[in-house]
Amino acid sequence: MKVSIIGVGKVGVTLGYAMVMKNLASELVLVSRSAGRTRGEALDLQHAAALSPGRVAVRSGDIEATKNSQVVILALAESADKGGNAKDRLASAEPNAKLFQSVVPKVAELSPDAILLIVSNPVDVLTYATLKLSGFPPHRVIGTGTLIDSARFRSLLSAHYNIHSDDIRAYILGEHGDSQFPVLSAVFAGGWHMGQDPVVKQSFEKTLSVAPEVFLAKGYTNFAVASAAAMILEAIRDNSHHTMPVSTLVQGYYGIEDVCLSLPAVIGRTGIAQTLQIALNEEEQAQLHHSARQLSAVNSSLQS
Ligand code: LAC
Repeated sequence: MKVSIIGVGKVGVTLGYAMVMKNLASELVLVSRSAGRTRGEALDLQHAAALSPGRVAVRSGDIEATKNSQVVILALAESADKGGNAKDRLASAEPNAKLFQSVVPKVAELSPDAILLIVSNPVDVLTYATLKLSGFPPHRVIGTGTLIDSARFRSLLSAHYNIHSDDIRAYILGEHGDSQFPVLSAVFAGGWHMGQDPVVKQSFEKTLSVAPEVFLAKGYTNFAVASAAAMILEAIRDNSHHTMPVSTLVQGYYGIEDVCLSLPAVIGRTGIAQTLQIALNEEEQAQLHHSARQLSAVNSSLQS
């Protein structure tokens, strides 16, 4: 599988390393505006690949080098502080959308059959922009979305209840940002419906504050989001049909259309094989609509 990463900042590089360690591609191409540093990162990763069991060939290049990729990862951002930090993700909408306008049409032309995986923030807004700019079908345009938040939520629940996080089914849906919400009516562990336990709601509130906490402490987040992207790539490579909440075009769920936000999706070789329509209670439906309104407003402000 040929995979290209466009944007070789802290997240792009961490994802490249995860890909080498997990053998997620046969060919990995790194592209960014700073050619010299990107070349250095590619060489360093190539050396890491020589010390890992897989056989990933890593190189750097310009955008043309991404030609005929099976997956193109969009991890580019205008600058480290404007580029999608977890404190105020929406603040980077305008500069990052401009950057995407300058890159996505070319990416789509060079790799017309690729899956585009959006990592940059605000991820839902940029997933929507990528969909429009590429003209690709929605199943091939995927944002990492609330996969990260759901993992943070599950790990907090896992620590509290002392149950393996794989066994906890818990979804945070909507915006990867302030309007995200937990589907408390569908939180289960081993069939036990734990969503009514007040600890679950408290854990969600804690989930909301942990990304800003990381940002305040170290200035950016990279490991969790890179791991989320690696997990999506693994599902594509293996055609595993694993289910995970990712940002995707919403087409008629509870009356919502024409906006990208996270819903549980089944991921395989062709991208999103299907999105699952969880039954939401009234409060959750209101939260979903709130998230959709927030994101639609940002999408429209960028188009005007
Ligand atoms: C985070 C960034 C990627 O939540 O938004 O880690």
